[in-house]
Amino acid sequence: MTSTVFTGIAELVTNDALLDGADHAEHLGILTDAAVVEQGGLIEWVGPASQAPAADQRRGVGGNSVIPGFVDSHSHLVFAGDRSQEFRARMTGARYDGGGIATSVDATRAASDDDLRLLVAARVAEMRSQGTTTVEIKSGYGLNVEDEARSLRIAAELTSETTFLGAHVVPPEYAGRRSEYVDLVTGEMLAACAPHARWIDVFCEPNSAHAFTEDEAKVVLSAGRDAGLGLRVHGNQLGHGPGVRLAVEMGAASVDHCTFLTAEDIEQLAAASETTVATLLPGVEFSTRSPYPDARRLLDAGVSIALASDCNPGTCYSSSIPFVLALAVREMNLTPAEALFAATAGSARSLRRSDIGVIRVGNRADMAVLDAPSYLHLFYRPGVPIARALEPGSRHGH
Ligand code: NIG
Ligand code: FE
Repeated sequence: MTSTVFTGIAELVTNDALLDGADHAEHLGILTDAAVVEQGGLIEWVGPASQAPAADQRRGVGGNSVIPGFVDSHSHLVFAGDRSQEFRARMTGARYDGGGIATSVDATRAASDDDLRLLVAARVAEMRSQGTTTVEIKSGYGLNVEDEARSLRIAAELTSETTFLGAHVVPPEYAGRRSEYVDLVTGEMLAACAPHARWIDVFCEPNSAHAFTEDEAKVVLSAGRDAGLGLRVHGNQLGHGPGVRLAVEMGAASVDHCTFLTAEDIEQLAAASETTVATLLPGVEFSTRSPYPDARRLLDAGVSIALASDCNPGTCYSSSIPFVLALAVREMNLTPAEALFAATAGSARSLRRSDIGVIRVGNRADMAVLDAPSYLHLFYRPGVPIARALEPGSRHGH
């Protein structure tokens, strides 16, 4: 097996609070003039470039920075069709209520396997080209047994972090028959999807007529748990509601959006910080002209937070974690270090993964390189494509 030493790293963000010699300001465990040795996709050694051991090949990073690859722990990449007209309507005042999901469902059902596979692969490639090395992908635009299972099979070709979201909305053909749809999701659909999924998710939102109530969401999550899936929840996106409470009560790994929270929600999340991560998706607030979640208050209260893209055709068609990071600092008052940690180690935690998000010996060598002397340039140079996934053993840099 070929080993590679990446050297000439002006600044290495490890996120490793235990690393010797690192500057631990704000937990990023930064080493300057560093090297990393990778073999077989794993990290073998991390330290000062002057002490780097020999390896089969040497790759100079050319005075740039290396960070843990972004962990995008929330996306909906399996869809066909276009909803740019819906975005245009929102920018002139229309409100988002989840109703447009049906448009994506029609287009997704109509797409061939190959077309869908190409669309998803292109979106994952777009993410890698911006520094994302792990992506969670949800189903949720099939909403029948065959198309949900197909969505997850295709997603599973590209990631191990697949999430069954049959309970995204009640599809139009079940209008007025909600409980029959919940029966389908928790019965035949779950049985067909569970083999291809690691997680189950539900859009629990009393402020949308299309989404699910607390009682319905509980039934869906319980069935998923019985089928061996981990739990995630879309909650508190469009207004106050039961999503956070339900996620915490059921020990979900993540409750996502958290745009509208009460003091009690925040207390519950803080008390559950070892179990349940609050995943913030500020690209959604940007693309729906909504207020941003109070990330500062969550962190100050001791809540575990993550940042992710929510890349989807309705509320945020952006695959860019650098964009999310810039929003988190500029609009949500996180420090650059807090934001970067949340989109790497924080989002890894929301997937209950400790083998990614931190650059340390034994972890996966999933890293991103920045064409910049410091990670601060991610925020300082918004909109400039400085980040890309570092391909182990491949040529890169200058
Ligand atoms: O995370 N909230 C529900 N689901 C997606 C949006 C889906 C869509 O509009 O297509 C979200 O925002
Ligand atoms: Fe989502």
